[in-house]
Amino acid sequence: MILSRSEFQDRPWHATPPLDMVAALAVSSMLGPEESQLYHWVGRRAQGLGATVDLGAFAGGSAARLLSGLTLSGHRHHLHAYDFFTATGKARARWVPDAKPDSNGVADILPHVMARLAPWQGQFTLHRGDIGQAKWSGDPIEILAVDAAKSTALTDHTATQFYPALLPGQSVIMHQDFLHDILPWIPAQMVALRDCFEPLAKVENDCLVFMCHRVPSAMELQGARTDGLSDGDLCQRVLLAADWLKAMVPERRFEKMIHKIQANPGVRIGWKMK
Ligand SMILES: C[S@@+](CC[C@H](N)C(=O)[O-])C[C@H]1O[C@@H](n2cnc3c(N)ncnc32)[C@H](O)[C@@H]1O
Repeated sequence: MILSRSEFQDRPWHATPPLDMVAALAVSSMLGPEESQLYHWVGRRAQGLGATVDLGAFAGGSAARLLSGLTLSGHRHHLHAYDFFTATGKARARWVPDAKPDSNGVADILPHVMARLAPWQGQFTLHRGDIGQAKWSGDPIEILAVDAAKSTALTDHTATQFYPALLPGQSVIMHQDFLHDILPWIPAQMVALRDCFEPLAKVENDCLVFMCHRVPSAMELQGARTDGLSDGDLCQRVLLAADWLKAMVPERRFEKMIHKIQANPGVRIGWKMK
């Protein structure tokens, strides 16, 4: 899709007719209301130039929003959703209460996701397993939604596997957790690739949208790696990101990330950040 910062500044997703989203909103999601509109709108803007990839699909909510838009795009499309497709504890009870847990408290939610996405049958593939082991075919990707960059290793793997398939001037990345203070490696990665990606919008609390200007080379991806950075180097990258994004994101959001890094020396997995 042809994208521009000015188009995103007008936030056209707010004008999405509510009736167009009825089927998608029937699928529960951790996305907020504006993020839901954004995902639908981005799907609708797709030009059939490549796949849509949803990393961290959970109960299918993000996939449903993208698929409802893709269906209205009028172009050929296919969505690839990746997740373990399991749920435990409060998340299971809140978002997939109909999935029964096994004796270890783990529920297989894949059949439930299939059923929830039934309106778009044939338009998607569910890939169950560790995204950290996932291999992308290399086919072009027009839309990449990332909600699984929960560690430095996963963040690096996502970039290595999926970013080379983005289309310059056409593809969009939605980083769902970009400003989540327990995941400072996401801005640390993206700022190192700032010659390749242009920030287009901040949506709700944590989501940032980027356009791919240029496909990062293998050397640039290597240079953007976050696994193995010292705490000091990670903080430096976060500070660089704060400067890069100062027109869009208040500085205090990055200060919170630096406090988290300092309070959790060497920790590189989000849920372990206290
Ligand atoms: C915040 S949830 C995604 C929410 C979803 N996009 C929605 O619309 O509700 C993050 C998901 O990432 C998945 N995830 C995290 N690490 C993963 C990994 N290494 N491999 C596969 N899935 C992973 C989790 O299973 C979880 O479902």
